[in-house]
Amino acid sequence: MNQHILFFEKLLANNCFSDEATRQQYSHDETEDIHRVPACVLKPSTVEEVSQILRYCNENKLPVTPIGARTGLSGGAIPLEQGVALSMERFNKILTIDEKNHQVITEPGVITQALQDTLKEKGLFYPPDPASKGSCFIGGNVSENSGGPKAVKYGVTKDYVLNLEVVLANGEVIWTGANVLKNATGYNLTQLIVGSEGTLGIVTKIVLKLLPHPTESLLLLVPFFSAEQACEAVAAIYQQGIIPSGLEFMERDALVWSQEFTQDYSIKIKENHQAHLLIELDGFNMDLLMSDCESIMTVLERFETDEVLFADSQAQKDKLWNLRRKVAEAVRSRSIYKEEDTVVPRFALPKLLTFIKSLEKDFGFKSVCYGHAGDGNLHVNIIKGDLSNEKWDKELTSVIRRLFEKVVELGGTISGEHGIGLVQKQYMDIAFNSAQLNLMKAIKQVFDPNDILNPGKIFND
Ligand code: LAC
Ligand code: ZN
Repeated sequence: MNQHILFFEKLLANNCFSDEATRQQYSHDETEDIHRVPACVLKPSTVEEVSQILRYCNENKLPVTPIGARTGLSGGAIPLEQGVALSMERFNKILTIDEKNHQVITEPGVITQALQDTLKEKGLFYPPDPASKGSCFIGGNVSENSGGPKAVKYGVTKDYVLNLEVVLANGEVIWTGANVLKNATGYNLTQLIVGSEGTLGIVTKIVLKLLPHPTESLLLLVPFFSAEQACEAVAAIYQQGIIPSGLEFMERDALVWSQEFTQDYSIKIKENHQAHLLIELDGFNMDLLMSDCESIMTVLERFETDEVLFADSQAQKDKLWNLRRKVAEAVRSRSIYKEEDTVVPRFALPKLLTFIKSLEKDFGFKSVCYGHAGDGNLHVNIIKGDLSNEKWDKELTSVIRRLFEKVVELGGTISGEHGIGLVQKQYMDIAFNSAQLNLMKAIKQVFDPNDILNPGKIFND
């Protein structure tokens, strides 16, 4: 490896790191407690540098793992032990805001929220807002096809990506499409790259479509005496013809733990509150939002709910959203856990929750569920708590397999927005048969015949 590091040092000068501290820093993302220490960390800042790095790695068959802000939850950015870690953090510029066409061209290392805030100043809206939006990179969002609460009304990352500049495994640089809203020209390479978790190419520029930024919003927190009923209310709200801009479910412990973790905002959670729905409406006309809100209240009368909390200021809205966004961190701070990112058709959500609770009894573990209920996207945290290491190690995989089999039986799939990466690849056979997997592997082979791009991810080989 030493002669390879010399090559990288020559190419990147001070932006090739092989010291222990940097290698440790880049050995993990936010996925459980997995660490793999790369041989070196490269921080290029131009497409030419990325191209030369990949050409060299391809010729020398060196594994390269592209790395964003390391906020991922499926281990997509965990490098190979002694491989090359390619950090995109210096690609941190918003290049062009095209107000006339409602588009932005950005580099991948821009923090998602910074991009959103800059666009908002111009009245423009980039909706996808993963919980980590304050620290994740837009490039990571493209690689994992991230979602977030706003996806329920506005769609996920893929729905905004028009075109990508990509460096291929052999160093060639391509654009995948065109900066247009409609494109029926050939295969859709743009959408193939979105969500490919750095296994097909390295994204160096991103063209996103934008919307006018909504000016009004309402936010309400609804306590339910039954978690299943909270899930049933989700589909009922849609059947009323309402499209909220956020429809989040939090099981009792998700909210209680987040409240204890953030120590920022105190909500009265009664003993018999089993779950909450956080419902947001947004738009440009407050009268219309109020009318939708009244319809929601009418729908809620069919369920056993307690007093609804209406956020009456922006500060209160921010605090409520913060409580929701911190659930994952709160769970992580509490116990060893495994987070699953299940997604089912919205109407099947109550069935999924009931199944999870029966699984809990069968195996004797605790689960804490929360997530983007309007999308049928339920984050299932399996909590180790007091379980013995032996039981945890022996039974966790069986629990997850049972869960995923049920998800697929209900018409869903095993990841809605966190990706497959490293830790979910062993379950891909539940979501796909061998014909489907072989097709995907053949695509990988065309893009990356030497398997240098983020090897060991997505496929269980
Ligand atoms: C969330 C992340 C974990 O929804 O996806 O909080
Ligand atoms: Zn989520």
